[in-house]
Amino acid sequence: MHANRPNVIINCAMSVDGKLALPMRKQTRISSQDDMDRVYKLRSMCDAIIVGVGTILADDPGLVVKLDGKLSEHQPLRVVLDTNGRTPEGAEVLDDRATTLIAVGEDCTTKWAGAETIVCGKEKIDIKQLLEELKKRDIQKVLVEGGGETIWSFLHTKLVDDMYVFIGSMVIGGKDSPTLADGEGSPTSNEIIPLDLEEMRQMEGGILLHYRLM
Ligand SMILES: NC(=O)c1ccc[n+]([C@@H]2O[C@H](COP(=O)([O-])OP(=O)(O)OC[C@H]3O[C@@H](n4cnc5c(N)ncnc54)[C@H](OP(=O)(O)O)[C@@H]3O)[C@@H](O)[C@H]2O)c1
Repeated sequence: MHANRPNVIINCAMSVDGKLALPMRKQTRISSQDDMDRVYKLRSMCDAIIVGVGTILADDPGLVVKLDGKLSEHQPLRVVLDTNGRTPEGAEVLDDRATTLIAVGEDCTTKWAGAETIVCGKEKIDIKQLLEELKKRDIQKVLVEGGGETIWSFLHTKLVDDMYVFIGSMVIGGKDSPTLADGEGSPTSNEIIPLDLEEMRQMEGGILLHYRLM
């Protein structure tokens, strides 16, 4: 438990070569059904799910919890990092299956019928400030689901407790395919983010790795 922020868990699925999607950011299925079921369970244990607007634009995810194929009663808050208000009207994340909070920058004037907005930062969403705001709303546990730029930002700010990576048994390739951690990367070896391997488990279609942030 942290006094000023929720617990933060990252979850993502990547290919053996570290890619999250096809070149041109096109979504592809990396997780097995087994892994999808695990992700739904993980979502159901969280109070909020965070994604970057790049994921909204590429995948249009609903970010809801389904258990045994049915929409679960507890639906975590859906949170989008969207400095410039690029979430399109009609995006699944704006539907009424769960509530949605869009974190925008100071200069953004966009409003959405299906979501509350919160101003957090200027050039990019200030992750520390956003997490503090979520904590004030009694959000205790958040799941960061991607994409690569968003995961990098969370890792870089060191505001992460656990990271689950499902490695699907496949190679996607392509220098332009998004990876687990995009953004600027570590300019020197001092800034590399060390991880502590907590568990590894073979699953249908791949391997699940669970890391703790050191
Ligand atoms: N395999 C998986 O598990 C998985 C999961 C999710 C997504 N994906 C894939 O990931 C790809 C999308 O990833 P992406 O890296 O392009 O986009 P992303 O991480 O989803 O979103 C990045 C965007 O979020 C906004 N943002 C605002 N504040 C930010 C901050 N502090 N840090 C980072 N981003 C911030 C920025 O846009 P503004 O400057 O306009 O605000 C930024 O360009 C898609 O191809 C999708 O299919 C895969």
